[in-house]
Amino acid sequence: MEKRTDWYEHPAYYEAIFGTDTVREVDFLEALSARHGTGGSLWLEPACGAGRLVAEAAKRGKRVVGYDISEAMLAHAKKRLTPAQRRRVTLAQSRMEAFFEPSLEGSVDVAHNLVSTFRYLDSEAAALAHLEGTRRLLKPEGLYVLGFHLTDYARTSPEHERWVGRVGKDSVVCNTHEGLPERRARRSPMRNRLRVSGPGKDWLIETTWYFRTYSAPQAQKLFRAAGLDVVATYDFDYDLESPVPRNSLRLDRVFVLRPSAGGRAKASARRGATARARKSTRTKKA
Ligand SMILES: C[S@@+](CC[C@H](N)C(=O)[O-])C[C@H]1O[C@@H](n2cnc3c(N)ncnc32)[C@H](O)[C@@H]1O
Repeated sequence: MEKRTDWYEHPAYYEAIFGTDTVREVDFLEALSARHGTGGSLWLEPACGAGRLVAEAAKRGKRVVGYDISEAMLAHAKKRLTPAQRRRVTLAQSRMEAFFEPSLEGSVDVAHNLVSTFRYLDSEAAALAHLEGTRRLLKPEGLYVLGFHLTDYARTSPEHERWVGRVGKDSVVCNTHEGLPERRARRSPMRNRLRVSGPGKDWLIETTWYFRTYSAPQAQKLFRAAGLDVVATYDFDYDLESPVPRNSLRLDRVFVLRPSAGGRAKASARRGATARARKSTRTKKA
């Protein structure tokens, strides 16, 4: 067996497992935007990976901006787009903690980040910087749809999920383990094993990392600090008619976030200050 590391260096195998819900996810995002947001067509995907959601949104006529830290994932994303989709898509290499594009400020209708990717941000400062940066890019009625698993700090056994998929003649078996949460350090140890077997191939791609942990109150506090209101909460069933009831024990959450009135005031004060600074520079030059 050949051992490899980092599943994001192997986008096709990653997507054989995690790319199966794409159409349902984009249906859900469109429905959320129609119900809670603007219904508009400029979409942003932080950490867009190999671009399955980018391509599906572009296919439906959205203008899409996607960025990711991984060159291999972005290369796969670029390759999969048709020429027509390419005209509607901008891809960039960037980090969630740092991405900011001034030309997008106040203009995004839907930003989304659905499959626990937000938990890669490994400190409160990094998570806050990401949420504030994304909030600044949203229209006042725009949405940030953020899906991730909350953590049950009282859990006493590790969690395990197993999926299977195919890429051509290769079969892929995926096992993901989440170890016990470290409450003080706010993190859980994660391990993913992709076993890929096919003609002349027997690979084990093992990836280990930490995910940041959130209880519901920890998530709420962070959203408030970032100037985002929770306008609705769903689970990974993506059913618009079944929002998560208060005090639900389910841990898979899709938070539908919108800039709060306070966040909007801060943004418009910042835009005013920028405009004044530009005007004063022009006056000085003249
Ligand atoms: C679980 S995949 C999700 C990809 C895509 N959003 C999807 O739904 O298929 C996580 C992605 O996050 C990217 N990533 C991890 N940490 C990141 C960071 N700090 N900034 C930007 N991208 C990051 C990885 O390269 C990977 O492509």
